[in-house]
Amino acid sequence: MKIVVIQGPNLNMLGVREQNIYGQMKLEQIHAQMKDVAAQNNVEIEFFQSNLEGEIVDRIQECYGDAQGIILNPAAYTHTSIAIRDSISAVNIPTIEVHISNIHRREEFRKTNMIAPVCASSVVGFGPFGYHLAMIGMLQIMQEMQAAQESQAQA
Ligand code: DQA
Repeated sequence: MKIVVIQGPNLNMLGVREQNIYGQMKLEQIHAQMKDVAAQNNVEIEFFQSNLEGEIVDRIQECYGDAQGIILNPAAYTHTSIAIRDSISAVNIPTIEVHISNIHRREEFRKTNMIAPVCASSVVGFGPFGYHLAMIGMLQIMQEMQAAQESQAQA
C-alpha cells in the first residue's frame, strides 16, 4: 500500500511564511513525522511539493495504478483549480485534503473550494497536526479497502 503526499504552492516556505497562520514547523519536519507513522504501519509513502499547477496534475495522474491514497494540500490552487479537481476525479483514488489554517474563517475568497467535493474527506484548521490526522484517516480508509478486497476475494 502506498500513500502519496502532495503539497502545493508556497508550502515549501512553511516555518518562514506567516508563522501566526501556518505555525513554525518546516515541511521537512512534517514529512519526517508522516514517514514515521507510515513506517510503523508498514505503508509506503512518497512526498512531492510544487509551486506549479500542471506539475501537481502530473503527480496526481502518476498515482494511477501506483498509489492507494493521496494526502493533498493544494494551497492557493484549492480556490481556483478545476484542473487539479479533475485529476483527482480522473484517478479515482481516495484523497484527503489538508489545510493547515481554517480556510472557513479567513478571507472570503478562501471559502471557494474546488477540491473538497471530490475528496473523501477534509482536515482543516488543526495547524501542522492536521497532516498527522490525515495520516490516521488515510490508514483507516486503506484498512477498510483491504478488508473489502479480501472479503470479495473470498466470495
Ligand atoms: C492553505 C490555505 C490556502 O488558502 C492558502 O492559499 C495556502 C495554505 C492551508 O494549508 O491553510 O497556501 O492551503
